Amino acid sequence: MLTTSYRLSITDHDVIYKAMMLQRFDWKDKYLIKVDEVDFQHQYFLSEINKINIFYTEGYRNVKISDILQEIINYAVFHFKSEENLMIEHEYPGLELHKKEHEDLYNKLLVHSVNIDGQEENLEDLYEFLVDWFVEHTTKEDQEFGKFYNLL
Ligand SMILES: [Fe+2]
Repeated sequence: MLTTSYRLSITDHDVIYKAMMLQRFDWKDKYLIKVDEVDFQHQYFLSEINKINIFYTEGYRNVKISDILQEIINYAVFHFKSEENLMIEHEYPGLELHKKEHEDLYNKLLVHSVNIDGQEENLEDLYEFLVDWFVEHTTKEDQEFGKFYNLL
């Protein structure tokens, strides 16, 4: 028979269950586009997205999920601007299309932010949405720019 000390508390179960439900998505080198400034920012961007996962599975003391999402939005704005500036500087022909992708995510994030304020957001869905966007964008549109940049 198990002694009390070997038993998992309800809280332990809760943490394990949540960790199983929301697996953390880590950086992979296939997301590199071989533009140092952008690659660095992408790694940071992913670590910002992963704060949702940490909040969900472990929690943060004195941090609200709405603050985490706001931080993600702020970083996305900074990152998109800096990527677009690099594209302008190098006369990238795909700039307008690429800007549309960025704007689209920004607008969707604003909707999520309203939902989070009204506590109607599902954190699993939000995390999956952001990870999917990140993977899709860095392995397609950003790769296109990376190829162009490295041919210069
Ligand atoms: Fe991009």
